[in-house]
Amino acid sequence: MTAQEIRKAYLDFFEKKGHAVVPRAQLVPKDDPTTLFTGSGMQPLLPYLLGEKHPKGTRLVNSQTCLRAQDIDEIGDNRHTTFFEMLGNWSLGDYFKKQQIRWFFEFLVGEVGLDPNRIYVSCFIGNEKAGIPKDTESAEIWQDLFSEQGIDNKIVEIGSASNGNKVGMQGGRIFYYDDGENWWSRGGGIDNTPIGDPCGPDSEVFYDFGEELHDETKWGKAHPANDSGRFMEIGNQVFMQYKRTEKGFEELPNQNVDFGGGLERISAVAINSSDIFKISIIWPIIEKLQQLSGKEYQENTEAMRIIADHLRAAMFLAVDGVVPSNKEQGYVMRRLMRRAILKAFNLGIEQNFVQEIVSVIANMYKNDFPEVLEKEEEIIVILVKEEKAFKQTLRKGLREFEKLAKGREYPMSYPATIGGGTLNGTIVFKLYDTYGFPAELSIEQAKKDGVSLDDNWRKQFDAKMKEQRERSRTATKGIFKGGLGGQTLQHKKYHTATHLMYQALRDVLGDHVVQRGSNITEERLRFDFSHPDKMTEEQKQQVEKIVNEQIAKDLKITWAEYPTSEATGKLGVLGQFGDRYGATVKVYKMISDDSDKPFSFEICGGPHVDHTLQLAEGSKKFKIIKEQSSSAGIRRIKAVLK
Ligand code: ALA
Repeated sequence: MTAQEIRKAYLDFFEKKGHAVVPRAQLVPKDDPTTLFTGSGMQPLLPYLLGEKHPKGTRLVNSQTCLRAQDIDEIGDNRHTTFFEMLGNWSLGDYFKKQQIRWFFEFLVGEVGLDPNRIYVSCFIGNEKAGIPKDTESAEIWQDLFSEQGIDNKIVEIGSASNGNKVGMQGGRIFYYDDGENWWSRGGGIDNTPIGDPCGPDSEVFYDFGEELHDETKWGKAHPANDSGRFMEIGNQVFMQYKRTEKGFEELPNQNVDFGGGLERISAVAINSSDIFKISIIWPIIEKLQQLSGKEYQENTEAMRIIADHLRAAMFLAVDGVVPSNKEQGYVMRRLMRRAILKAFNLGIEQNFVQEIVSVIANMYKNDFPEVLEKEEEIIVILVKEEKAFKQTLRKGLREFEKLAKGREYPMSYPATIGGGTLNGTIVFKLYDTYGFPAELSIEQAKKDGVSLDDNWRKQFDAKMKEQRERSRTATKGIFKGGLGGQTLQHKKYHTATHLMYQALRDVLGDHVVQRGSNITEERLRFDFSHPDKMTEEQKQQVEKIVNEQIAKDLKITWAEYPTSEATGKLGVLGQFGDRYGATVKVYKMISDDSDKPFSFEICGGPHVDHTLQLAEGSKKFKIIKEQSSSAGIRRIKAVLK
């Protein structure tokens, strides 16, 4: 089966089982500034998994286009892509483990035609501390399914994946792993589950490509969750029945199923190829690249994979309205395109090629995604414009390289080594940062021109990059979190008021309230949050009262930097959980002198006032002036200090 056929078969299969086919959500989440991109099929369905009614009922299915920008540096291996489609089916308090596991197995074996002997599965081993039991129910369902096929069905306890590398398969078919593998939340394992998010144990399905692909000396003993490439994960069935709260894990009103399976991976195993780039919605790109470069995929595997992946992602970003820029989604798109163009340049493709590749990509999708057909011309204009701009950058960079590295025009502000014709990390960074000239090109050019390379260039370059990332992270966070354009005192006051109100809303309405957007001007704050119903007058008054009380208590506002996992996990700090956090985050605390527990404790870029009493200057009071619907399951408040 081709990938297109598998996508269709999946949707049909679940439609026959009573599921409504819902359209994919755009790659840029609507009304949700918490993450840059839609990274899983469940993301647009969060309010429904938390209990809100979905207009199409309790059984849903789709193929969701996803982008995981955090994987950008992993692209080049046999199974990772930044852009992919996630086949998803959901039960919103309808069917549960038994139907889900049976149906997915039936789909893989009956529809796609996989050999069930090559299928291995995993289940959750349980976590006593969090009060989550071992998922014996799923394991037993799997046992029945395998034995019906006449296949051995031994259960093996592994625990952590690293323990698996020591103990190996032990003849197992069904494997119990800990929360590092078989617990799903948007933040990861048990301790990293975001407060307010739905989560649960999961059961993963793997396809075995055979022992030949496993190098034990490099990877330890084989088992499904080992990364050697022998096993490929092709689907994950999350049994979303919990929500994390400050107090621990609470049962959700509904037992939900959130299934996600990579279309590209399922398509690869359907043709028994451990290389997912061989499938029908990627391979034509590689063929075109071979033709344009006159080079073979076998000898240029990594570069061709990167180009194919990145341009597929860039095309869908363009379809969903993103244009290359220096900010947020546009910045990721620019990075993807530039990396692809550079790789093509290194393959010797010097002519403009983006249009040709994009036409190939559009062709593979336009029957199934009418928006691709509709926007094809527009997309090509956007992408070709970026290609031209980058080519110009490359030419300019080459000229600057001449000046800086070879010292033709020796700039006095630079270390003397430059003039001597040595390329160091500072220059490589300057070329990159100011002229957009990629580091690898500087290095290549230096070799070509006989300019010597400082031994420490990589270290210096990395240090400069790190500084730059920290700068831009703080900047992005300001824009996203507080929606802060300027940073006047009035802005800061409203920003602080936003934090107080967020906590007050959670106190009054419950901790399903999660920030979905924020925008601040000198005149008012605006705040979007998840909540299914219109707020009553009484609830609004309660929120106002709490905020005004906290202002009157003159809470002290301080901040500190924490490791991200610690902040979002153990500390239970409020925050937005997405791929835009780095290793550490800034956490703001608002606490009164006579208390040991902060009233508000939130991840944020700032800035804030120092004391909450500043918000009351001029005898002002916090007041909600409007509370309305913003979109399905999302409410919007406007409030003032008056
Ligand atoms: N939400 C689950 C995942 O992304 C299915 O893996």
